[in-house]
Amino acid sequence: MTPGPEQHNGAGGATARSRPDNQPRPGGEPLLAVKGLTIDLPGGAVQRGLVEDVTFDVHKGRAVALIGESGCGKSLTSMAILGLLPAAVGVVAGSVLFDGVDLLTCTKRQLRRIRGGPVGMVFQEPMSSLNPTMTVGDQIAEVRRLHLGERRSVALKQARELLERVGIPKAEKRLRSYPHEMSGGMQQRVMIAAAIACEPKLLIADEPTTALDVTIQAEILELLRDLRRDLDLAVLLVTHDLGVVADFCDDVVVMYAGHIAERTPVDGLFYEPKHPYSSALLSAVPQSGRARTSLTVIRGRVPSAGQFPTGCRFQPRCEHSVDSFCTRPQADTALTDDRRTRCGRVAGGDLTLKGAVRG
Ligand SMILES: Nc1ncnc2c1ncn2[C@@H]1O[C@H](COP(=O)(O)OP(=O)(O)OP(=O)(O)O)[C@@H](O)[C@H]1O
Ligand SMILES: [Mg+2]
Repeated sequence: MTPGPEQHNGAGGATARSRPDNQPRPGGEPLLAVKGLTIDLPGGAVQRGLVEDVTFDVHKGRAVALIGESGCGKSLTSMAILGLLPAAVGVVAGSVLFDGVDLLTCTKRQLRRIRGGPVGMVFQEPMSSLNPTMTVGDQIAEVRRLHLGERRSVALKQARELLERVGIPKAEKRLRSYPHEMSGGMQQRVMIAAAIACEPKLLIADEPTTALDVTIQAEILELLRDLRRDLDLAVLLVTHDLGVVADFCDDVVVMYAGHIAERTPVDGLFYEPKHPYSSALLSAVPQSGRARTSLTVIRGRVPSAGQFPTGCRFQPRCEHSVDSFCTRPQADTALTDDRRTRCGRVAGGDLTLKGAVRG
């Protein structure tokens, strides 16, 4: 039995605008299927459940946002997909099917062929990924040489076209520049050029615009939007920005303390969130066009790994928590074909949360 019905009048914040590139509902096999992904400290260490039972799909051509506060496991999840987890942690359960192949069982060599080939990557800090001792032309050309076996001269010609494609002026001259001779926005464009050099099917971008100023952020997102349209690219986008989610993405995966709280098409998040954590995230964003004296923040903080509650991980911070029910583990439950929640109260129909946008 779950406790009695309750209505919550959420949430100001970002609004879901109509997205011209919003894809039709997907059918068929997903391009990327992450199933039961569990990441921990291996080697018999105390189980900490850094990331536990994470399951979601990315379909061809669609953009999926991975959101949640700092430390919720977004980067570990995206690094695990690409076999790039830091040495201290490892995948202890689950599968990551990309185009039908389980990336978790691939050898390092196979993964190197997939990364930069059918799966491109862009990270927050371009300088941590670009090689400071190589010209940007050679770095982009190297991707094509490695994956497509092109000769240097051919690959450099392609690199020049790629620089033009990502909006870098004077591409011929820029081929010979070193990363430190470029601005942060230009470096990020170079990263994107390298990521799309072999026409990937999937781009994984971990906060690709966070380090950039607002105008440049908008330009980079516009570029990603064009690339999505032109290459029919699927995108897994890690972001803190609900405006970016509303503008750019089709589906959202909300993570909290290593669990998925909710999975939903974007509009569902803004119109009718299905987890109190999603609702709290919406409330934490200032309403556009309205002055606010103070920003609502979610009370408390994400528990450190190893200190997760045994029941609902959000329970200690949840304003809808009912102790006797929510201190028990909550199952990841399907509500409809495309919506899931890990809140038993919502799944049981005892709690309805209203979104930032009225339906
Ligand atoms: N190498 C590591 N060893 C041990 N714990 C780690 C390691 N890397 C990350 N963690 C822990 O795993 C949890 C999730 O980290 P992760 O970097 O995935 O968070 P995130 O959601 O990407 O946060 P942010 O928004 O700040 O980037 C955090 O508690 C973090 O302290
Ligand atoms: Mg991160």
